[in-house]
Amino acid sequence: MRLLAIESSCDETSAAVVVDGRVASNVVSSQVQLHGEYGGVVPELAAREHLRQLGPMMGLALAKAHLGPSDLDGVAVTRGPGLPSALSAGVRTALALGLAIGKPVVGIHHHEAHLYSPWIEADVPVSMGADFRPHVSLIASGGHTLLVHCPALFEHRVLGGTLDDAAGECFDKVAKMLGLPYPGGPQIEAFAKKGDPARYEFPRPKRNDPDQDFSFSGLKTSVRYFLRDHPGILETPSGLNDICASVQEAIVEVLSVKLVRAALKAGVKLVSASGGVVCNGRLREVLKYASHAAGLEIRMASPRFCTDNAAMVGMVAYERIKAGKAEFLRLESEAVAGLVLEAGN
Ligand code: KG4
Ligand code: ZN
Repeated sequence: MRLLAIESSCDETSAAVVVDGRVASNVVSSQVQLHGEYGGVVPELAAREHLRQLGPMMGLALAKAHLGPSDLDGVAVTRGPGLPSALSAGVRTALALGLAIGKPVVGIHHHEAHLYSPWIEADVPVSMGADFRPHVSLIASGGHTLLVHCPALFEHRVLGGTLDDAAGECFDKVAKMLGLPYPGGPQIEAFAKKGDPARYEFPRPKRNDPDQDFSFSGLKTSVRYFLRDHPGILETPSGLNDICASVQEAIVEVLSVKLVRAALKAGVKLVSASGGVVCNGRLREVLKYASHAAGLEIRMASPRFCTDNAAMVGMVAYERIKAGKAEFLRLESEAVAGLVLEAGN
């Protein structure tokens, strides 16, 4: 089965070809530079750029897989959630391609795609469909921080999410306060490598709460007050490095403690992690350590599949089609910006 997948929910335009459950190609055009000067994603610019990039990305993905449009058996596309106009660019493009080649178009939930991403490119090639085990998953990106319990394939129970800022958003907003460019996560990680994570004690919001929700806006505000109360600290030799290391440590600790606790509570033996923030080396290290210390196995998406990509969309579509659980779109189908992760079907 040869599928062309499309992802355009936020600020990455991506296309991939998935052949029989293997990623034959995956190309991404990032809009980071475009939005960088505004300090965050501008929806109208994102949609326009998706429309410009979708054609070239699809062509490139097909060329890299040595296929042409007529070789395809279907098209997969992120239907939601995400920015309405950005999603719409992808869905309309997918439907047009499906119509042109006379092949079905499958709509995929963006979070389900992230949930699948740790199973792409595993050491031993496995598919989540063939090798399913109940697990609890952390999705941490610029738009979402979610804990999801997956008791069975395509069954999801959202255990908790963020009450305010997402983890990536917290990295981005703190970076902005520190005068660092967007996106802030990789910037903070780079300075944190030279800093002392125990130098400043920033709050760990909701770390010890029994619920499974997150809240990062208090941490962001505490950095703002800290900077107000320590004028000139960013000009000291280690000031920026130590602040970055200390903030990163606070975010990493909350994410890993809550993932492990949720897994133990759900009674699963496996945890997984995905989303842009899981590119963070310190988070990967602590997640691995914390899960092993608790007797849990962990599977993390490799960094190139952590950030938004079409490969994860194509992989879920393949598994869903195989299982007879795909949602086929009709020509008049729309993107759904607030698409809910179904409990199961
Ligand atoms: O998954 P993603 O590409 O897009 C969304 O769906 O949001 O995630 C982007 C987010 C940004 O907030 C970015 O700062 C964060 O992931 N991020 C990181 C790192 N790389 C990307 N955060 C911390 N450390 C990193 N190395
Ligand atoms: Zn995402």
